[in-house]
Amino acid sequence: MRILFVTSEAFPLIKTGGLADVSGSLPAALRTMGEDVRLLIPGYRPVLDKLSNSRILIEMQWLPIVGNVTLIAGEMPDTGVPVIAIACTMLYERDGSPYLDAKGREWVDNPLRFGILSRVAAILGSQDSPLTDWIPDIVHFNDWQGGLTPAFMRHSQAACAKTVLSIHNLAFQGNCAEEWVEKLGLPPAAYHVEGLEYFGQLSFLKAGVFYADSITTVSPTYAQEIQTEEFGFGMQGLLSSRSTDIHGILNGIDTREWNPAIDPHLAYPYDAEHLEQKSLVKQALQHRLGLSQDADAPLLGVVSRLANQKGLDLLLECADSLLAQGCQIALLGGGEPLLEHGFWRLSLNHPQQVSVNVGYNEPLSHQIMAGADMFIMPSRFEPCGLNQMYGLRYGTPPVVRRTGGLADSVCDTNAANLKDGSATGFTFGLADSPSLLECIQRAVEYYHNKPVWKLIQQNGMARDLGWDQSAREYRDIYRSLLEEDKGLGTRN
Ligand code: ADP
Ligand code: GLC
Repeated sequence: MRILFVTSEAFPLIKTGGLADVSGSLPAALRTMGEDVRLLIPGYRPVLDKLSNSRILIEMQWLPIVGNVTLIAGEMPDTGVPVIAIACTMLYERDGSPYLDAKGREWVDNPLRFGILSRVAAILGSQDSPLTDWIPDIVHFNDWQGGLTPAFMRHSQAACAKTVLSIHNLAFQGNCAEEWVEKLGLPPAAYHVEGLEYFGQLSFLKAGVFYADSITTVSPTYAQEIQTEEFGFGMQGLLSSRSTDIHGILNGIDTREWNPAIDPHLAYPYDAEHLEQKSLVKQALQHRLGLSQDADAPLLGVVSRLANQKGLDLLLECADSLLAQGCQIALLGGGEPLLEHGFWRLSLNHPQQVSVNVGYNEPLSHQIMAGADMFIMPSRFEPCGLNQMYGLRYGTPPVVRRTGGLADSVCDTNAANLKDGSATGFTFGLADSPSLLECIQRAVEYYHNKPVWKLIQQNGMARDLGWDQSAREYRDIYRSLLEEDKGLGTRN
């Protein structure tokens, strides 16, 4: 099958969060299974700089507002997955993150920037594609940034590919003013509740949910949650109406990039049989972060966007109790100024027990994952979450709230789960600080029981977290869409 995988970020080209990790590793896994996958991504400057063997593929003309863009072909530097980058200086080559300016505000022309991504994807998935020798069977687009792809396709006579939407986070919807419908060249008649309109705005994500042939999200629990009022961010009704087309597939992880035995960011590599080396990583981390060199102090690791979603305000609320009980905290992250400030203050008051690094830091994220004793994720909602899986793999048992992918990937520790070998971490139910505190305290008790702790670590490290199973599930969805087509004749 020919699959065009449309994404707004992909590791190692550009990354702000888990979508990049998935876009870096799922296409590679599909390719290993023999599928013909190409990645479509905006040509941000780092993308153009890091692509291997980049060359001009073709000019694409007649696009809304920008006129022309240049498609650049290249390969992912590590996996060799073919990439098509959309080069357009005025849209993508600017300082700041892919979505936000230096002051943390959304780029005002985001509807255009990602409207063009969707439009290009739709053209490549049609008989009008300038790439006549590679027309995909499937266009698989991710999150709101690719959300208009199937809308453009539905309103084009030439569209021929089937479409799959993957929802990585329903909280980001790409909602914008109605005027963008015409500006982006969508038919005004489609601005309707049965189409592009969502509470008086054009919504990229709603359009994706409405028009995609099939919908996936990144864990089975989240697939159920998004159909409820609590987690649906207003889209629960539409999502429930498409219930039979929604599939929850747990993300895998890149087991080469995240492997403590060969991780280049660690001075002391280790595996499940050599966990004593992990204590040396902890020692090095305490040293690097200026924490007191106490081998027995439970070191709680956090690497995260600092956003309401992640529930780290709950950790702030119970931090004083945890510190009084001898815990240390190593936090890496950035986002909401109030949270950044709160953690800064905590570290200033407790320099030997709390380390806070604001910003994005790839090596340090690996070192915290390996050097911490447990990894804290009290998320209010979590579509999948990758860090808890990195924690499992690094022998750093996760302490997580039982929601979304956290519920699907971490198994709580209790007598029964210890006995049958399934205990891999610690889970709690309510999103409040007493529940988090109680859960961390429970983890700390086990932590001081070294033989049992080792068992929990080894259970997690033995889990198969790679992409094989999940990539097969994506392939089955693509296949069944194409089978449907054979049965029913072509669409349009
Ligand atoms: P989300 O995508 O919601 O932010 P995930 O757990 O799926 O959450 O993925 C987050 C990814 O981003 C992980 O690979 C994590 O290690 C990484 N990450 C988050 N914050 C930072 C940071 N400040 N520095 C380095 N990596 C980070
Ligand atoms: C989103 C979600 C996160 C998920 C990631 C990759 O950013 O917040 O839970 O792991 O996408 O699917």
